Amino acid sequence: MIRFEDVCYAYDGVPVLLHVDFHVEKGEAVAITGPNGAGKSTVLRMVNGLIYPELGRYCYAGEEITADKMREHRYSKWFHQQVGYIWQNPDSQLFCGSVEEELAFGPAQMGLTAKEINTRVEDALALLGIESLRKRAPFTLSGGEKKKVAIASVLTMNPSVWTLDEPLSALDGKSRRWLLEFLTALKEAGKTLIFSTHEAELMEGLADKEIRMDELHQVQVL
Ligand SMILES: Nc1ncnc2c1ncn2[C@@H]1O[C@H](COP(=O)(O)OP(=O)(O)OP(=O)(O)O)[C@@H](O)[C@H]1O
Ligand SMILES: [Mg+2]
Repeated sequence: MIRFEDVCYAYDGVPVLLHVDFHVEKGEAVAITGPNGAGKSTVLRMVNGLIYPELGRYCYAGEEITADKMREHRYSKWFHQQVGYIWQNPDSQLFCGSVEEELAFGPAQMGLTAKEINTRVEDALALLGIESLRKRAPFTLSGGEKKKVAIASVLTMNPSVWTLDEPLSALDGKSRRWLLEFLTALKEAGKTLIFSTHEAELMEGLADKEIRMDELHQVQVL
């Protein structure tokens, strides 16, 4: 479903991804691990079609993801519904005036009816236990609350693939346990999960495989 073939990528001439090869099958859960700066977020940005390989190929469902492909409006709209992204920093992700609007944005883009949008928003607010935040402006929320809103805003899109960059960061013990259960339920529902983590041991039991990155930008699939 997701295939990186000999992918290389550099920021301003500084290499970050060197000949990266891995694949993720439908329904698999994959952990991307490694120290700060190893390139975990870069891989997730590429999986989400925000940057493209400079060498090698990234294919999603058999289709090579390139800048040209993503300029096809219908394709990129479909693609962004398929692949949900929870950013490392929720401030980069939340941009609406209220939590409710944030949750309704994705389904509205998908062209759902007002009734369907409302059902999805209410379900997500309830599942995340954030009903009391519905009228709040996202920028006034705490770090953990923002993370939950970001997760809820992906949930209302119901993507097939969930990509999560450091999903445990900013969460307290109770919220972490909840998130692990939530991700386990997503996996059981057949969703594909790709998440980066510094706390591989906490994610144990969830990941089917690990993509381990290091400071030298070498990658092992375990
Ligand atoms: N937009 C950018 N411009 C220039 N360099 C960048 C940019 N984004 C990332 N980098 C650099 O690329 C390298 C990999 O960054 P990346 O964010 O992918 O690492 P990471 O593994 O996610 O790290 P962390 O654990 O700190 O989140 C780092 O050295 C970083 O400074
Ligand atoms: Mg990162």
